[in-house]
Amino acid sequence: MKIFATYNIKGGVGKTATAVNLGYLAAREGYRVLLWDLDPQAAATFLFRVRPRVKGGGKALIQGTRSLDGAIKGTDFEDLDLLPADFTYRNLDLLLDAARKPARKFSRLLGPLRSEYDVVFLDCPPSISLLSESVLHAADTLLVPLIPTTLSVRTLDQLTEFIGGFDGHRPDILAFFSMIDRRKSLHKEIARQLPEQRSDVAATAIPALSLIEQMSVRRAPVTAFAPRSSAARSYAELWAEARKRGRLPPAADRPGYVASRSSAPGRRIAASPAASTPASSRH
Ligand SMILES: Nc1ncnc2c1ncn2[C@@H]1O[C@H](COP(=O)(O)OP(=O)(O)OP(=O)(O)O)[C@@H](O)[C@H]1O
Ligand SMILES: [Mg+2]
Repeated sequence: MKIFATYNIKGGVGKTATAVNLGYLAAREGYRVLLWDLDPQAAATFLFRVRPRVKGGGKALIQGTRSLDGAIKGTDFEDLDLLPADFTYRNLDLLLDAARKPARKFSRLLGPLRSEYDVVFLDCPPSISLLSESVLHAADTLLVPLIPTTLSVRTLDQLTEFIGGFDGHRPDILAFFSMIDRRKSLHKEIARQLPEQRSDVAATAIPALSLIEQMSVRRAPVTAFAPRSSAARSYAELWAEARKRGRLPPAADRPGYVASRSSAPGRRIAASPAASTPASSRH
């Protein structure tokens, strides 16, 4: 199981749009995907048409009185499950503060899902907090959307420095430009230069497109409702880079892959005999 987190201290930069679209593309490729919407604003949960509610709230999940598995919902898309947001997630920081080894908490919580999912996306709220720290420790790869300004490079350097201070596991960073306006020469220049200079910046940039904004009206990933659009092509390119950076083995290599495409509910039972909830009953 590989864990990707969409992260930036800044708000409104495209974290959720990225998690939702890359999650959809990964599932379409045949990976078993879980997206955990960690933001009490619940944007990803809204986009997947799921109720933003977790029984017992964030407290039950953090304290372990409710397993993550029991809170997971299905989406309209095969192989793509959602752990919804809940308004109580606004207190996750306080709950983590009271927990033992808060920085390790997310790795531990996600551990039992290893046999059930190939790819997990953690969609983070915009902040730098104990929650983000715990997510950064759990993630294999951070996907960091950058708005094309000279300051964005500073943000990336600060993040790299922060992670450099971790002992033990350190996630890889794959930053990428988000909401590029090709008519602006500064945007074009930064988006061209930086990937050539830095290996932690993806060659793919996501353009600013009204079709991407329409996701909140259509309540679906743009990669699902307009799969041949240039927006979808950009996300597909970004996913190809992310998959490579995350060293994700091809979906077809995992045991049970062929069986899973022929029967979705059977797949989950076959993949994880201990799983209490088959995919078909997660809705
Ligand atoms: N490439 C894009 N082109 C145009 N609009 C975009 C693009 N990416 C995201 N948006 C829109 O910009 C807004 C913010 O995007 P998104 O919710 O993905 O950002 P975020 O970083 O997750 O925000 P937050 O910090 O609030 O969680 C949304 O309305 C979204 O539809
Ligand atoms: Mg968001």
